Amino acid sequence: MDAALPLSGPVDQWRLGMPAENLGAGVGTVAFTASALSANRAGPGPAVPLHIAMAEELSRADSALVRLPEYRGKSLVPVLSWLIVNRLVRPGSEASWYLHKQQGPGSVATLLTGLGWQDVRQKREGRLVRITGQPPHTAELPETKSFTDTVGSVELDFLADYGVFSPGHIDDGTALLAKVALRQEPVEVLADIGVGYGPLAIGLVRNGVARRAVATDVDCLALWLAERNAAANGVPLRVECTPDPLDVEPTSLTVCNVPTHIPADAGTALTHALAARVRDGGRLLAVVHASLEERYVRKLATTGVKVTRHPGAAHVVLEATR
Ligand SMILES: C[S@@+](CC[C@H](N)C(=O)[O-])C[C@H]1O[C@@H](n2cnc3c(N)ncnc32)[C@H](O)[C@@H]1O
Repeated sequence: MDAALPLSGPVDQWRLGMPAENLGAGVGTVAFTASALSANRAGPGPAVPLHIAMAEELSRADSALVRLPEYRGKSLVPVLSWLIVNRLVRPGSEASWYLHKQQGPGSVATLLTGLGWQDVRQKREGRLVRITGQPPHTAELPETKSFTDTVGSVELDFLADYGVFSPGHIDDGTALLAKVALRQEPVEVLADIGVGYGPLAIGLVRNGVARRAVATDVDCLALWLAERNAAANGVPLRVECTPDPLDVEPTSLTVCNVPTHIPADAGTALTHALAARVRDGGRLLAVVHASLEERYVRKLATTGVKVTRHPGAAHVVLEATR
């Protein structure tokens, strides 16, 4: 899906994380999430997920508008400033940032000035504050927080930041799933659904469980980190920004540290699609907190798969086969 995106063509204005409204010709969009990407695709201009915008050359525009995501931390501001300078606008352009008062417009304005933005000014617009300025001509990509941890017999370095799941250490559920997966017969390719910054896909390939991995996530920042972590650790990984696990190729092993804090209908659709990935002779390994064990065993069993349990201290890995 991502490979077919139209990345070229003239763009007058890039919009990042903005509502998908008034998307006329000449408006390009950058999405932080799969749902925003899908809404942006209704417009005639290029609709690009953030992880691709960070990696590819794009048409330069004369202006950019950013809706600064909440709950991501201010460390994202220098990353988006880098994106605007190095991918989105021509020298001499203006760009505006929209944010709530609670997101600290004063400190964001100071941060932008420190990053070399000129003529930075603030204006109230409805419920939001708009910060406008001229981006610098050059920008350095800031450092991303990272940590080192071990999966199986391999020590790995991971970038993990910007509110992506489990910064600073490998989650206990992830570690239990990896332990169970390391006992499996090796496969050619594995799928990691909800890859996050990539500990399962990368850790399992580096331990020889698969030669390569395909992965999904609905969070483009997670996919950006996963791609960088895979490249740094020498792991072939192909990612898709999608809520549907069936959007990546069929594989005989699928792993998932299940996102359980999502709306009930999205959770049910995800569980059914995970079960639909299980082919004859193949398996799904899904980890949930032990308190959710019975609920997820029931959800999977209604799809007709056989479920075996691998309990850990606080989590359980559910193994689904046909
Ligand atoms: C519990 S975290 C696990 C992340 C990573 N696999 C790990 O073990 O650290 C779940 C991930 O699923 C993602 N997610 C939520 N809904 C999803 C969906 N429908 N399809 C794919 N990923 C999804 C979240 O963005 C999050 O990165």
